[in-house]
Amino acid sequence: MKKRFYVTTPIYYVNDVPHIGHAYTTIAADILARYNRLLGNEVFFLTGTDEHGQKVEKAAQEKGKTPKEHADLMVGNFKKLWLKLNISEHGFIRTTDTEHIKTVQGLLQMLWDRGEIEKRSYAGWYCTPDERFWTEKDLIDGRCPDCGRPVEQIHEENYFFLMSKYQERLIKYIEENSSYILPETRRNEVLGFLKNNTLGDLCISRPKQRLLWGIPLPFDENFVTYVWFDALVNYFSATRYLVPHPEDAKLGDFWWPASHHLIGKDILTTHAVYWSTMLMALNLPLPKNIFAHGWWTVNGKKMSKSLGNVIDPHGMVDKYGVDAFRYFLFREVPFGLDGDFSEQALINRINTDLANDLGNLLSRTLTMIEKYRSGEIPSETNKVSVCETGPVKVNPQHYFVGGLNGFLGKSYKNSLSSLNFYAALFEIWETINSANKYIEGSAPWKEKDEAVLSHILYNLAESLRIIAIYIYPFMPSTANEIWRQLGIGTGLEETVKLNPQETFDFGGVELGGRKIQKAGHLFPRIETKEAKKK
Ligand code: MSP
Repeated sequence: MKKRFYVTTPIYYVNDVPHIGHAYTTIAADILARYNRLLGNEVFFLTGTDEHGQKVEKAAQEKGKTPKEHADLMVGNFKKLWLKLNISEHGFIRTTDTEHIKTVQGLLQMLWDRGEIEKRSYAGWYCTPDERFWTEKDLIDGRCPDCGRPVEQIHEENYFFLMSKYQERLIKYIEENSSYILPETRRNEVLGFLKNNTLGDLCISRPKQRLLWGIPLPFDENFVTYVWFDALVNYFSATRYLVPHPEDAKLGDFWWPASHHLIGKDILTTHAVYWSTMLMALNLPLPKNIFAHGWWTVNGKKMSKSLGNVIDPHGMVDKYGVDAFRYFLFREVPFGLDGDFSEQALINRINTDLANDLGNLLSRTLTMIEKYRSGEIPSETNKVSVCETGPVKVNPQHYFVGGLNGFLGKSYKNSLSSLNFYAALFEIWETINSANKYIEGSAPWKEKDEAVLSHILYNLAESLRIIAIYIYPFMPSTANEIWRQLGIGTGLEETVKLNPQETFDFGGVELGGRKIQKAGHLFPRIETKEAKKK
């Protein structure tokens, strides 16, 4: 049976236009989705928008629109960006979808019937932008401990999910499941918080006189649902109506639990504590993993509208191309750590890794095949070992023998299954650099023995074929372009997933006799003053 892989991004607020932070998580999920499809797994990749709550209500008011009209307009911005970033999602959930609303209400009713929700009168400090209550002792200098903005005192009746009773069970669960929360530093943070604090109950309603824009509580029409309760349920409700094959939706928990929830570090508590305990109360399995990545700063500063330094992913893609942008985000900074974005660093990556290393490897290989073999890739008919012919120390074959179980394959697999994108790219580039060294070492332009020359050219073409598979999740268009130029065609994913083991293998696809389709350089160098000086 095929392995199921279900990956999610946070659902994004429609109060603002998408920026690099939104792009980052969504590309990460896309990398995992594409990689799993290559392996032949069944994949469900979900993203979407979070459309209820005070923030959205306020943003709509400022524009003179109803919240739904505002949401309908803003959703387009996200969908457009995902197209541009080559995101291959299956489901796009909107929390205003009727099916989602029904699921939220169904789950609330279930919790209410089971006595997991209670009505209480409450006084507390409320942070409107964060839509969260705080106790007096949580406040820092009388302000919200999370965002530092002023809070207001509120007295009201509300409904509470009895989260506190799950505290010990949650601690035990996190302790027993070492990869439930990653990276480890974040896991320790959550455990530290849970062990050193008394978990309160969670206020999951807002009275209608204060907020109208939300899902009505099924058991009290004077209240709407707290936006985070509504939002977190999206991961589950989508499995009931947005899955890749509609018939799976009828199979109950076919797609639940998720393999990975990818989120930013700022929303870890809501996922690790609220969502986990909600699932426990509902008797549903917990996701396999919650991974909290770091934040991007820009030239060392926090990104903010007032500083005018918000990075617009559209602009970056228009200027540098989608694959260069995707590559940069995951090569520059390990996923999980904070990182700094600068255009200069992006240009450096394009000029060095993409133009010099990868682009040159392809263009030198194809130029030689054109020159010495009239554009036809030679067959691997003789088994001359180039390692034994003189000064050659590196043979790219060594990296690929045994496909996914070979040297690169194994560590690449481990890196991607632990979401270590940085290490995966690092290893691919080691291989690319070895292939470049192999060209220098074997000096095909000096080779007199035609059989050895054919062998070298074959090795290079075959290495490029496999390198393209490895870079595909990160740079899908580039990978397809490499295959096209090698004369294989562009359906990389479709070909590989039919037989992953063999296609990842050295010699797994017959290259001999294929006519290359040499074209322009994959990544032309970007000439800036700094680059010229270098
Ligand atoms: N709607 C909630 C999520 C609900 S999930 C059930 C939300 N939305 S958001 O639009 O404000 O933020 C979405 C994501 O963007 C978060 O994961 C957040 O960490 C991420 N980022 C926002 N700014 C960021 C950076 N500067 N860098 C990286 N990611 C950042 O929160």
